[in-house]
This record gives sequence, structure tokens and C-alpha cells, in this order.
Amino acid sequence: MDFTITPTGATLGARVEGLDLSKPLPDKTFQTLVQALGRHGVLKYPKQNLSSQQLRDFAGRFGELEINVANAYQEPGLPEVMILSNMKQDDKPLGLADAGQDWHTDMSYSNMIAFTNVLYGITIPRRDGKSLGNTEFCNMHAAYEGLPAEWKERLEGKTATHDFNKFWEMMRRERGSARPPLTPEQRAAKPPVSHPLFMTHPITGKRVLYANPGYAIRINEMSEADSDAALAFLFEHQTQPQYRFANQWEEHDLLMWDNMGTIHNAVADYLPHEHRFIKRCQVAATRFFHADGTPRETAPATA
Ligand code: OGA
Ligand code: MN
Repeated sequence: MDFTITPTGATLGARVEGLDLSKPLPDKTFQTLVQALGRHGVLKYPKQNLSSQQLRDFAGRFGELEINVANAYQEPGLPEVMILSNMKQDDKPLGLADAGQDWHTDMSYSNMIAFTNVLYGITIPRRDGKSLGNTEFCNMHAAYEGLPAEWKERLEGKTATHDFNKFWEMMRRERGSARPPLTPEQRAAKPPVSHPLFMTHPITGKRVLYANPGYAIRINEMSEADSDAALAFLFEHQTQPQYRFANQWEEHDLLMWDNMGTIHNAVADYLPHEHRFIKRCQVAATRFFHADGTPRETAPATA
């Protein structure tokens, strides 16, 4: 199949053209896409035309799909496809309106972390001809590389606790989100988990900084005060302008990103009447890790 992968020239991102994602892809093409995703962090496939089923089938190639049991905004009959939208019908929201509106990594609060998110943009808000609601990313390969040597040394071998409730409460406290507090049952279903702060990326084989302001609450091997100071430093460090890339959406873009090598932020710069409607699948990192989080010996993608 004839297709091209064109890097954006920024710290992250490439554009993939010449593939019709509604059709099953040859294995070789798929392997090339996995490598490109590791290397560029964010891949955009413009001008796609996908049914929800086709979106699910494409995303499902990359690993096990997450089904968000607590979320009402699922495609009927296809619980792996979630709706992100600020649109309403008869006063009822059509989707989750405030997903990801601060820096975070998906599912770092889970034992099985996320590999990739696959978003299909159907309605994109615009003002004065310019699209709104960018998805911004930071490059965690570069953020690791850019750490001062003494920090690399100090944090080597350390682990961090990630808690789903951190982002949830921040949205309620700082963003006026209408989300109710998590119930004790919901909290019990998502207990905090630990992951290494520095991870060997299963596709690139290079180290990445695996921490994010949305969910990381504690460096386990440090006192609380030292951990707070170190996390504040890391959050500041990892979101510096030189690590950033902003994706500007067009309708019919399929956008996917690597959640191990990037962090992201949904920019909330559009108003309620400026409509956004996106379908999403979340892919767990099952092709790289066992259920308990230990790396698989040979990652299929690099074999
Ligand atoms: C997500 C997310 C970003 C966006 O789906 O995990 O953070 O721009 N979305 O909608
Ligand atoms: Mn997200």
C-alpha cells in the first residue's frame, strides 16, 4: 500500500496520508504505524470516513480496548466507542464535555497503562475560520533527555503513585466541572497504583519520563516534602514550551497518540454554542505489558 508519513517538523507529530482506515490494514503497514507512533508520538490521518464500528476495529488492532463502565456516553451497542462532546439534544448532553482539560496521561492510574488513544473528529469548533479545541502534547522522550543529570540520578529507580481521583477533584475545584465527587465504590474500583518514574519505552527502547500533573501524587521512596518538591519540579519541567506540540483539528481527522511517550491537554477555548463532537477509543498497553504491569519479554511490535 502506498502511503506517506510526514513529520510535522515540531518536537512531535506526523501526518499519515494515503491509507483508508475503514479497511483492514496489511500486517506490514500496521507494524510501520506502531513504529511511527513510538517515534513521532502523535499521528494524524486526515480525510477519513469511518463508522463507529470501523473506528473500533482500527483501534482494536493496537491492543485491548478500554470500556469505561462509569461513563454514560457510549455509542449504543458499541461500548468501546465513547463520545466526547459539548453538544446537547433535548437538553441532554450527547457526550463527556470536559474530558482531558488539563495536562495528563490517560490511564496512568491503572495497573495496565494506556498505549494509545484513537480519536475521530466529526464536528470541530471554529471561530473566524480558525479551528478551536486543540489537543496539545508534550514529548516525554525529550523531557527525560532534558532533565539535569543530578535529577536523572536522584530519581533513577524511583516509583510514583498515580491516583484517578486527583484529576477528578482538580476539575471540580478549579474548573467548575459539574462532575459529582467519586462515590466510595468508584474510588474503590480505581485504587491508586505505582509505576516507575523513568520507563524504557517499549517501541523506541529509549527512556521516557512517566509522570504527569493529572494523576501523579507521590514519589514513593521520598518523604512527602521531598516528593512534593520533586513533583512540582517535574511538572514544570515536562510542560516547557520546547517539549510542546499543538494539534489543530480538521473535521474527519483521525488522531492517535502514544500515552507512554507523551502527555496531553484538551484546550477548552470554545464556547457552549461552538460545537465539538469526537468519537474515541482507548487502547490499553496489553501488547507490551502483562496484566500485572511487568513488560513482556519480546514486544510484538519490535519483533
Ligand atoms: C482524551 C483527551 C483530548 C481532546 O480523550 O483522553 O484527553 O482534545 N481528549 O479531546
Ligand atoms: Mn486524555
